[in-house]
Amino acid sequence: MTQDELKQKVAHAALPYVKNVGIIGIGTGSTVRHFIDYLADFKADIEGAVSSSEASSEHLRKVGIPVLDLNAVGTLEVYVDGADEINPLKQLIKGGGAALTREKIIAAASKQFVCIADGSKRVDVLGAFPLPVEVIPMARSYVARELVKLGGQPVWRENCVTDNHNHILDVHNLNIVEPIKLEQIINNITGVVCVGLFAARPADVVLVSNGEEILTF
Ligand code: A5P
Repeated sequence: MTQDELKQKVAHAALPYVKNVGIIGIGTGSTVRHFIDYLADFKADIEGAVSSSEASSEHLRKVGIPVLDLNAVGTLEVYVDGADEINPLKQLIKGGGAALTREKIIAAASKQFVCIADGSKRVDVLGAFPLPVEVIPMARSYVARELVKLGGQPVWRENCVTDNHNHILDVHNLNIVEPIKLEQIINNITGVVCVGLFAARPADVVLVSNGEEILTF
């Protein structure tokens, strides 16, 4: 199976988690794109979705699912999203698609976070995937210097402006042995909007496609 076929397969496996849930949270990325395609078949049962990016919102509208404002709907029952890395504690690196801040907001506002990914995303220790950090544009260099002090090598993701009109630094060479602590430290740097470490609020359920089987933990 190709990586895209694995993404499609795991997206399909997540459908039972949104059965009879009126309003769902929806993430961003190529795995979620497959999930939205499947949702189109169930749109009669779905009142709407809170979306983590303009790209997902556009796709949802295209398949006929109303996009709702989180402020108007309150706590969500279920949030479905992908990840760039997943450790055995269901802690994640996210933000490869630059949507980390809205993703983290929806994860925080949801009772159950269902993470869907192909098997290549599983790791023992987070950090081989460069850690995305969304920053206020004027703080980019300052934040980068602070990240160097933490042992990382930040690289500005040029030509990328987030949906919140901010910039992204991708931090290389981090071996993240204490994810909750590092999440707090980076979030406390002035000028950081959000770090793509989902450790204090990890996923609740992870579905991973490995060949023919779906692993759930
Ligand atoms: C988006 O900002 C990310 O957090 C995605 O969830 C992550 O990059 C996974 O993307 P794919 O589903 O495309 O692998």
